[in-house]
Amino acid sequence: MAALFYAHGWPADIWLDALRGHAPSLDIRLWPDTGNVSEIKYALLWKPPLEIFENLPGLEVIFSLGAGVDHLLALDNLPRGVPVVRVVVDDLSCRMSEYAVLQVLTHHLRQREYNAQAARREWRELRQPAAGEVRVGVMGLGVLGLDAARKLAMMGFQVAGWSRSEKQIDGIKSYSGQRGLAGFLARTDILLCLLPLSDETRGILDYSLFCSLARDGAGGGPVLINAGRGGLQVEADIIRALDEGILAGASLDVFETEPLPQQSPLWANEKVIITPHCAAASSPDAISGRITEQIKAYEKGRKPKNIVDPGRGY
Ligand code: NDP
Ligand code: OXD
Repeated sequence: MAALFYAHGWPADIWLDALRGHAPSLDIRLWPDTGNVSEIKYALLWKPPLEIFENLPGLEVIFSLGAGVDHLLALDNLPRGVPVVRVVVDDLSCRMSEYAVLQVLTHHLRQREYNAQAARREWRELRQPAAGEVRVGVMGLGVLGLDAARKLAMMGFQVAGWSRSEKQIDGIKSYSGQRGLAGFLARTDILLCLLPLSDETRGILDYSLFCSLARDGAGGGPVLINAGRGGLQVEADIIRALDEGILAGASLDVFETEPLPQQSPLWANEKVIITPHCAAASSPDAISGRITEQIKAYEKGRKPKNIVDPGRGY
């Protein structure tokens, strides 16, 4: 029994050390050095090339090395019937919530404007509403969105969430489905998007959605924070909405094309905070620990947890 590893753009040696540290007896092979392919039962993957699935006759489980699985579900030759398991670990949730809290506070406390003032040596206090006056809306109330929503609510923000299914969560108002979207947007000053990318969510962050956000907020205009996937956002619409004052600011961690092309106008837009898809960095140790735990359980006959539904796309 062996596991095949491939992670596009990530340091394979660090990941292999972490995996071997957690499961010394697991035979891990780094693609394309597959050895005897019939021995490969597991594939541990991040943005794999199509060819990887050409000859894996004994494959039983595919583990995504990330929480998102769009990088796998988009592949035409993903083996049908082989379960795809995604990452759910506290380490990732905590990191994402740190990003979410940082970005919400950055806009809420007008830090971007203070940085600009400081660069001009300008001493001037700006008006700041209290957290309790500000309505944060979290799109995607899954593992990551819910953790961030709870932490933001704990800080005193008025937090609501939007998801496919209705939720009952203490202190967080739930909106769901297409029918709940308009009401959710109309009460949102700071929009935090932690949706997965699927056929249903692609391009959802567009001009008409930005125009539907609250215009009567205490903070001086709606703000977009997107750390879900770049495919969720229409970047030309973000720029237009910023130019027209429909959006007051944005924090973007993910982009239609990554790395963000040099010629993108987002780089030079002073209302935009850009990070290079690092909102929640994937810890080799934490993720390897979780995946090897799942493999050990599977070897004892238990079904893996966090299997994705290819029909839903997440
Ligand atoms: P989950 O699968 O746990 O949660 C997804 C949430 O989105 C659920 O609440 C789900 O609703 C909701 N949702 C999905 N489709 C729709 C839809 N069509 N309409 C309304 N709601 C919808 O995912 P995670 O929270 O673990 O991760 C979310 C995403 O974050 C990942 O898919 C990935 O793209 C991104 N990510 C980004 C990282 C970064 O560093 N930038 C790091 C890690 C992840 P319901 O609850 O009803 O099912
Ligand atoms: C993920 C990511 O999906 O890092 O885990 O984007």
